[in-house]
Amino acid sequence: MKTDIASFLVRHDLDEWEGRFSPYDEDLYQAVLEHVAPTDVVIEIGAGDLRLALRLAQQAQQVYAIEVNPLLVAQALKGIGLSLPRNLAVICANALDFPVPAGVTVGILLMRHCRHFGVYFDRLQAAGCRQLLTNARWKYGLEVVDLTVSRIPFAELAEGWYACRCGAVGYVGTGNRPDAAPVEVTDCPACNSQRNVESYKVVPV
Ligand SMILES: C[S@@+](CC[C@H](N)C(=O)[O-])C[C@H]1O[C@@H](n2cnc3c(N)ncnc32)[C@H](O)[C@@H]1O
Repeated sequence: MKTDIASFLVRHDLDEWEGRFSPYDEDLYQAVLEHVAPTDVVIEIGAGDLRLALRLAQQAQQVYAIEVNPLLVAQALKGIGLSLPRNLAVICANALDFPVPAGVTVGILLMRHCRHFGVYFDRLQAAGCRQLLTNARWKYGLEVVDLTVSRIPFAELAEGWYACRCGAVGYVGTGNRPDAAPVEVTDCPACNSQRNVESYKVVPV
């Protein structure tokens, strides 16, 4: 049974932007690769046409590349053909439905329009993954999220930038600490609402 793209996206709980493939620039890929060691077991959530996954496989122990769009995966696999690396597992599935494999040390989420950051964050952390490389929270550059650090409740932050496990970011207070590093928080106002992460910011970033 064939279906149109709109029904596909609805069935997979993705909006048009989240379910759209668009590659990022070389600077971002280089920044990702610099944070991956030969001993790492990597999961790339939303692997697109596998361009980054193939490079990751050259330097990591094992790579799981998960991409929801079967047309994209089929085309990418056709291009790779029999050169498929042995340490690259390509999984055509919705990452929201797919458990994080045991032993994953690094998660990669290059998806500026991601509406499910909190789900991926929680699952990676629960699986013992130590680092998340992403552009989903701040929308530019590469953020290296240490999944092992303790987080403070949002209510305890009096002044400064914050980044929440749910994916929301912003500034709280009167603005007199503009250069302070963001504090990792939990239980921010966006956590407790169904609002899109994009639509909730104390101060736009
Ligand atoms: C902006 S593209 C980035 C692709 C790749 N990470 C890169 O940088 O070249 C995001 C990709 O994530 C995929 N995607 C979005 N939500 C997904 C999900 N829940 N499970 C698997 N793939 C997903 C989209 O289909 C799209 O191909």
